[in-house]
Amino acid sequence: MFIATTSAPVNIACIKYWGKRDTKLILPTNSSLSVTLDQDHLRSTTTSRADASFTKDRLWLNGVEEDIKPGGRMATCIAEMKRLRKELVENVDTSAPTLSTLFVHIASYNNFPTAAGLASSASGFAALTASLAALYALPSPPTELSLIARQGSGSACRSLMGGFVAWNAGTLDSGVDSHAVQIAAETHWPDIHALICVVSDTKKGTSSTSGMQRTVETSPLLQHRIKHVVPQRMKTISEAILAKDFDRFAEITMADSNQFHAVCLDTSPPIFYMNDVSRAIIAVIEEYNRVALLPENGGKRKAAYTYDAGPNAVIYAPAAHIKEIISLIAHFFPQQETFKDPFGLFGPNGIGTGSFA
Ligand code: DP6
Repeated sequence: MFIATTSAPVNIACIKYWGKRDTKLILPTNSSLSVTLDQDHLRSTTTSRADASFTKDRLWLNGVEEDIKPGGRMATCIAEMKRLRKELVENVDTSAPTLSTLFVHIASYNNFPTAAGLASSASGFAALTASLAALYALPSPPTELSLIARQGSGSACRSLMGGFVAWNAGTLDSGVDSHAVQIAAETHWPDIHALICVVSDTKKGTSSTSGMQRTVETSPLLQHRIKHVVPQRMKTISEAILAKDFDRFAEITMADSNQFHAVCLDTSPPIFYMNDVSRAIIAVIEEYNRVALLPENGGKRKAAYTYDAGPNAVIYAPAAHIKEIISLIAHFFPQQETFKDPFGLFGPNGIGTGSFA
């Protein structure tokens, strides 16, 4: 029995990936950039085993066995990892055991409540790729592994690295230049915290996968975004991160979240991911920043909201403002239920979870 266990954290995009130019290889229509949350907080942990007694590849998610559809994303990732093992290890060292021919059993767990309504495909496919890479003793760096995690779920390629991570869209049809690259390590800017506000824990109506293709097919605004907006934003936000300029980082993050939801609305039929509570949280943060931007208050933004394909808010803020932001949110949105925060709210890059009705 050969066995390896690895975990990968959730990442939250500041410049959103939305749209594929190749749906099989998962090649995006634009580059994106995200923050990988701490390993200690929201993560998927995956164990892979290979054994001569296994009769097929099998997968368990949170203890429940799932089908591995032939030709599907999971099957592709496993096949690609076996191919790498064969090419990079077994063909080089003839004494290496031929692990690539054995079936694998894979078990993956998320340490965050499913009720938190957070997408787990990014951390899930990143942890799967990393655990097979460990099982197969691959010499591949994270950038190379990101090419395979990407074929499981696009955003997963960014979870193989910590800190601030870009996914370069690339231009080649083969997809070999469509990979993740670390812009700054997790140690670069530990002052940034992410506060996750669970507005609703029900499953979203339109999945990212189907929603984004409908946008590609029908939204004129998406074409403008791809050509004229994202390239400049990728450059400016990377500079803001390297300079630890939170004001600029916040401005771009919020603008990009809003444009992402605008292209969803520009889709036919339109897609609505945010609800009234999501929009009310935007109003609170905008007002908070309006006051912070007054010259007498320092003239700089103190928080940034961002929303993915659902109503839940993620608020980025420097550590010094987190307590104040939590009080504000709790004041305007009395909490129906508060998850016990198992993560240590005020640790580096700490995460608070709350549920707002
Ligand atoms: C809104 O990575 O879940 O979170 O590649 O089809 O699996 P697939 O989509 P997925 O899309 C994530 C979209 C997003 C923005 C982002 O994370 O960049």
